[in-house]
Amino acid sequence: MLESVEAQMRAFIEELENEEIVKLFETLPHGKRLRAKLVLKVAGGGEEAVRLAAVIEMIHAASLLHDDVIDDATTRRGVASLNATEGSKQAIMMGDILYSKGFEELTAFDRAVASTVARAVTQLSIGELMDVRLGDRFNPDIDAYMRMIYQKTAALIEATAAAAALLAGKDEKIYARYGRNLGVAFQIIDDILDITQTSEQLGKPAMHDLEEGKTTLPYIYLYEALDEAGREKLAALHGRKLGEEERNWIKAMMEETGALRKAYLHARELGEEAAALMEGEGEESLAEIVTAMIERDF
Ligand code: FPP
Ligand code: MG
Repeated sequence: MLESVEAQMRAFIEELENEEIVKLFETLPHGKRLRAKLVLKVAGGGEEAVRLAAVIEMIHAASLLHDDVIDDATTRRGVASLNATEGSKQAIMMGDILYSKGFEELTAFDRAVASTVARAVTQLSIGELMDVRLGDRFNPDIDAYMRMIYQKTAALIEATAAAAALLAGKDEKIYARYGRNLGVAFQIIDDILDITQTSEQLGKPAMHDLEEGKTTLPYIYLYEALDEAGREKLAALHGRKLGEEERNWIKAMMEETGALRKAYLHARELGEEAAALMEGEGEESLAEIVTAMIERDF
């Protein structure tokens, strides 16, 4: 069924009647298509659901094109990012095209569906702004971090599940809550994998979050567990290129203090709540998406 979403996205792009845009679109890596899978599992594989899934994946792809420019990233999903191969101007404009074509297609939906998705995209943009702001210095504030990842990542996943539920005539609130928990857990697992996995496994540089200025949940828990000298040492590594010794120290401390485990348990708790919500609705495969996401290693 995911192929029908790929075909729909391509059809939307072809409607623009511009060969260069089609070519650039084809170079973009597909990723996990988590949001499309969610729509199809909640609302089935009908024509409207496929269109909604395509619109949301286009908006998501646009946000990543812009994010890679903002983060100065050179790789995305194991291949060179568009800003690296074609330059930032092309990446921004391609993002704008995907984003605005997605919104144009969104206007064909019921008002409640369209506004649910549109509101989430505003949240996503505010979340990205907060992410940049929080990166100015080492951030030990867990509430600020949780708010930011809700807006940056979970809001669109929450809206995806809610909009699909609206299409299918299901209880929007339950599905929104499921999506929200899934989204926050997804980002926390991403933060953990940045520390535990290799660059090859991740398809982007490993242990890069702190270098990039991102004080993610495991780092906040680590900071809380360290003594004054340890805290100073950790905070001083923020936003700097890490050497081998520093990487090893962080990894060892993450294990020794249980910070990594604590972050994992936080994600698992959110995931379990999300899975239980779906089990209550008889949605086994939506519950399985959460389990697979928590246990993923890339
Ligand atoms: C990835 O975060 C970034 C996001 C999930 C959201 C980015 C949102 C914007 C740039 C707002 C603009 C939106 C549109 C629709 C044009 P990350 O950098 O933590 O993850 P990464 O490691 O995958 O880069
Ligand atoms: Mg990024």
